Amino acid sequence: MPIKSAFCELVGCRFPIVSTGMGWVATPPLVSAVCNAGGFGILAGATLSLDELGASIAAVKASSKNPFGVNLRADAPDAAERVQLLIDNQVRLASFAAAPNQELIKRLKGEGVLVMPTVGKRRHAEKVAEWGVDAVIAQGHEGGGHTGPVPTSLLLPDVIDALDIPVLAAGGFRCGRGLVAALSYGAAGIAMGTRFLLTQESPVPAEIKARYLAATLTDTLVSRRIDGHPQRVIRTDFVDALEASGGLSRLLLALRSGLAFKRLTGLGFFRLLSAGLAMRKAQGISLAQAVSAANAPMLTEQTMVKARIDAGILPTGQVTGLIDELPGAAALITSIMSEAELSLTRLSGMHHG
Ligand SMILES: Cc1cc2nc3c(=O)[nH]c(=O)nc-3n(C[C@H](O)[C@H](O)[C@H](O)COP(=O)(O)O)c2cc1C
Repeated sequence: MPIKSAFCELVGCRFPIVSTGMGWVATPPLVSAVCNAGGFGILAGATLSLDELGASIAAVKASSKNPFGVNLRADAPDAAERVQLLIDNQVRLASFAAAPNQELIKRLKGEGVLVMPTVGKRRHAEKVAEWGVDAVIAQGHEGGGHTGPVPTSLLLPDVIDALDIPVLAAGGFRCGRGLVAALSYGAAGIAMGTRFLLTQESPVPAEIKARYLAATLTDTLVSRRIDGHPQRVIRTDFVDALEASGGLSRLLLALRSGLAFKRLTGLGFFRLLSAGLAMRKAQGISLAQAVSAANAPMLTEQTMVKARIDAGILPTGQVTGLIDELPGAAALITSIMSEAELSLTRLSGMHHG
């Protein structure tokens, strides 16, 4: 019996395995490889300009006939145009790191695009479910990039018990045993970032991949110093310096990467600063945190695109410590599914034996 789930039915993929929309990493070759292998790939859209996003969607469509998703930022100044692009291209699903507002959800759903935010707490999951999203990714503390305080093993039962829509498990997954564990909790599949970052099709420079492969389970940390929100990254000299630095040097760093962010999004520099000031007032955070909140993606570009470990961050799940090879995406998906089948056979043997 092939392993299928409500998520597979919802989006129309063969296996309950999702490759997430990692900024700078989830590019068309990775997304289409995952989709062609029976998984569901999500394109990184938040770190592309509007034109680049259009070109990337076209590139995925040209190399795979299967449905795929796009990751967006709900607070992007041109979010409405990006949403229209997804609608015009009949993209199957929009994913969001931070919850989109009700209006955006309604617009996407009204035009047949499924909506799937990532949540880190039961309360957030309940709120977005009430707003009508179609599925959620529940990401536990061990997961990569922005991450919440609750570990996957506790978040999953908490969120799954509260919701009656498909919940994908994220944070710490890499293999078939993990898939079976997630399904046992009642999840509709697994969503993996770090595991797909470490594949052949991932565009990340070889020396950066080597750094991930070398990391152990205790070589990551969760820092708030990058953009004010907890983000899991590999511990490097750059991150240590960021952790130790005062407000002024962080502000300078934020402003420097802010210039690059302006080129990418067209968000005016002074608008960025005034948005920062407003956020600072509203949330009581430092100006450095507020300004960098909008442009932190550029620190990921430094590493993922430019191979500058000294000038950027390496967002990662803790699972990097258990990954030591770079398979092709199709081989990875096949091996996860066959390990899951084996694991189920072993479990049913225990049950009958
Ligand atoms: C390099 C990197 C970049 C990421 N960028 C994004 C992003 O732009 N949007 C998003 O929703 N999640 C982003 N994430 C989070 C992942 O989509 C995913 O939820 C997370 O990696 C799952 O945990 P895992 O790494 O243990 O599999 C990123 C993660 C990594 C490792």
